[in-house]
Amino acid sequence: MSKGFSISCERNQHPILEQLTEWFKDRQQVLEIGSGTGQHAVFFAKHLSHLNWQTSDMQENHPSINAWLAEAELPNVSAPVVFHVGKNDWPAVDADAVFTANTTHIMQKHDAKLMMQTIGKHLKRGGIFCQYGPMNIDGEYTSEGNRQFDQHLAESGCGGIRDIAELKEWAENMQLVAQINMPANNFLLVWKVI
Ligand SMILES: C[S@@+](CC[C@H](N)C(=O)[O-])C[C@H]1O[C@@H](n2cnc3c(N)ncnc32)[C@H](O)[C@@H]1O
Repeated sequence: MSKGFSISCERNQHPILEQLTEWFKDRQQVLEIGSGTGQHAVFFAKHLSHLNWQTSDMQENHPSINAWLAEAELPNVSAPVVFHVGKNDWPAVDADAVFTANTTHIMQKHDAKLMMQTIGKHLKRGGIFCQYGPMNIDGEYTSEGNRQFDQHLAESGCGGIRDIAELKEWAENMQLVAQINMPANNFLLVWKVI
């Protein structure tokens, strides 16, 4: 697979950037979980040049990430490390921030739980985790579109949309400090390591 393209990245990158500009303003090293095509990494690293952005994903997505990185030639974004929550150990990255977009509902439930448990162990105290995607609230979908999407996820063998209460329960050493409504019935959850 060469350079992939995600239309959802194209649509959500500006609103997410607006938030990351604030939440990552005093951060230095970001680990991105599930970089996918590599588009977000290139876009955010370009606009947030004070950050070092470490990409990661399963091996099969690396060619696309590498293709985006090669084209962008940015000094502050690093070639992907193999990291699949539930399969690989936490990467050797001295991160003070973690970013992930549209991965929590793709992962199996036990991997989503593990992600919430392990980030708080590996990020430094005061570390920030920004988690973007569709989430449920108090057991309810936030839109009919999300209900249909969740059905599609179940049929595709994905873990499905998680409830914010469930994520809070799973989060270890982390506090939810912001729950931001984003376009298209998504959220940006901001967690802080305590
Ligand atoms: C819908 S894509 C989103 C990719 C990218 N973050 C974006 O916003 O376009 C879901 C991503 O989650 C990754 N993923 C799925 N399960 C994972 C796991 N257990 N650990 C890490 N990444 C995982 C996939 O490899 C894929 O890159």
